This record gives sequence, structure tokens and C-alpha cells, in this order.
Amino acid sequence: MPPYALAHLSDPHLAPMPRPRLAQLAGKRITGYLNWLRGRRKIHVSANLNAIVRDLKAQSPGHIAVTGDLANISLPGEFTAARAWLDTLGPAADVTFVPGNHDAYVREAADAAALHWAPYMQGDAAAPKIEFPFVRRRGPLALIGLSTAVPTPPFMATGQLGDEQLTRFERTLAQLGKEPLFRVVLIHHPPVSAPENHSKRLTDAEAFRKILSQHGADLVLHGHDHVHSLVWLDGPKAKIPAVGVPSASATLHSKYDPAAYNLYRIDGAPGAWTCEMVSRGLNSGGIGEIKRQMLVN
Ligand SMILES: [Fe+2]
Ligand SMILES: [Fe+2]
Repeated sequence: MPPYALAHLSDPHLAPMPRPRLAQLAGKRITGYLNWLRGRRKIHVSANLNAIVRDLKAQSPGHIAVTGDLANISLPGEFTAARAWLDTLGPAADVTFVPGNHDAYVREAADAAALHWAPYMQGDAAAPKIEFPFVRRRGPLALIGLSTAVPTPPFMATGQLGDEQLTRFERTLAQLGKEPLFRVVLIHHPPVSAPENHSKRLTDAEAFRKILSQHGADLVLHGHDHVHSLVWLDGPKAKIPAVGVPSASATLHSKYDPAAYNLYRIDGAPGAWTCEMVSRGLNSGGIGEIKRQMLVN
């Protein structure tokens, strides 16, 4: 097995943004486009993302997880460009993707992620359509992919799992819990949001955390907040680490953390798993190690 079973990156917010036609800017897209022109395009830098991906590939992780926000305002051209980018990351069998709010920015784009990026969001079991959660087994890992990507009004960036997905998630965790698997939950929005992030929270986070507290998981990976974060969630036997990673394209000079990604070395067996996390990211000299810690509680 490779030293790192898993690498996690998120929120690349791919640039350059294709030039939108005027008609495409109706509704929420106009605010997002102005936002991009005024500031976000200076934050999300292709050269930084390329450096992150180069460094990540040099570590030869067993699998790569990407937790959303490939797009910015969900233009048709963003979906085709993002598919080409995913294809450069690795074959779909080795790369798992879950969508973020910018990948379902407006109602007319709600189905575009499934249409363009399906191979990266498919479970092991053959299914007629993309459905969340999906499950992929890779060695001792079970990757459980969720979608919180729903269109929202302007100035809102909330996410929602919805009752049906939550019911399936509960059933999935219960089933996987009977097998000797290290369960990794992939979700774009964080399971806990600070009060100042109310307009970008996961609206049914409480129900999500309740299911985790009853059925357990070994690791939750998310993006969305564009910063390094670690919170411990209640589990049935032990606390569950939930780890957020910055945008993989972020500049050194913004209010967010610079571009980074995390690597996970997983050993042991059920009841006695060990999980080491290594964060690597952008600094003034290039890409280097930021921190290394064992995720134990
Ligand atoms: Fe994002
Ligand atoms: Fe997001």
C-alpha cells in the first residue's frame, strides 16, 4: 500500500473563468461574476493550484478526494473545463469528487455536475443515475460521498443534505459499520459553522451530526470555509475528527489560508485505527510541510 492512503484537496475554484454571455448573467450569476472580477480572481491562482497538484502527485497517494467548488458561477464552460482538469488529476477510479455550492450556483445548473463529472461521483455498485451518498471501497477505506450542493439565493452559500439523503446516509453508515472498514465521509460544507458563517452553513448539520453520533465514522473531510480546521464530533464510541482544508488555489495574500492539501496515513484495524495527517501547502518558498499530527482523541 502507498504510504499515504488518501490525499484531500478542495475548492480549486478553477480559473480562468470563461467569458459569460450577457443572458447567462441573469439572476444570481451577476453578483458572483462581479465578485469574481472584483476580488476572487486574485485569490484563486492557477499557478498555485498547479504547484499543489504537482506536489500531491509526487507523494503518490493511493486515492485523491476532492470536496467541491471546481466551478465559480456554474457556467456551462466551467463544467467542461473542470472535467478536463479532473481528468488530469487521475483516472476516475482513483479520484473521488463531491460537489460544492459553486457547482450548483443557479437552478439551471443543478444537474450539470452529475452530467459532466459522473465518473468521479459514482459508487462501486452500478447505478442508473448519480445518487448520494455513494460508496467506494479502496483497501481498508470506505469513501462515502455526500452532496450538499443546492442552488441558493444571492449572497447565500448554504448547503443542504435533505431528509432523503440523510436517511440513506444513516442506512449506509449502519451497514458499513458491520465491516472492518475505515469510514471516510466526504462533504463540501463543514459539519460545524461559526455564528459569523450563518449564511454559508450546512442547514441540516445537526441531523448530520446526530447520525454520526449514532452510527460513527472514522474521518470527515470537508472544504467550503477555505481554511485549515479540525473539530471533533461525537461518535458512538470515540470522537470523530472533521478536517477542513483551504482552497487548493489560494494566494498567499488574502484573509484565507494559502493553498494547501492534506495527506492521510491510515494503519491498524477496527477499534484500533491510527490516522496520521500531514498538511502540505504554499509558503513564500514554494510548497512544503505545514504540520504533521496524529488524529487521536
Ligand atoms: Fe469554495
Ligand atoms: Fe463552497
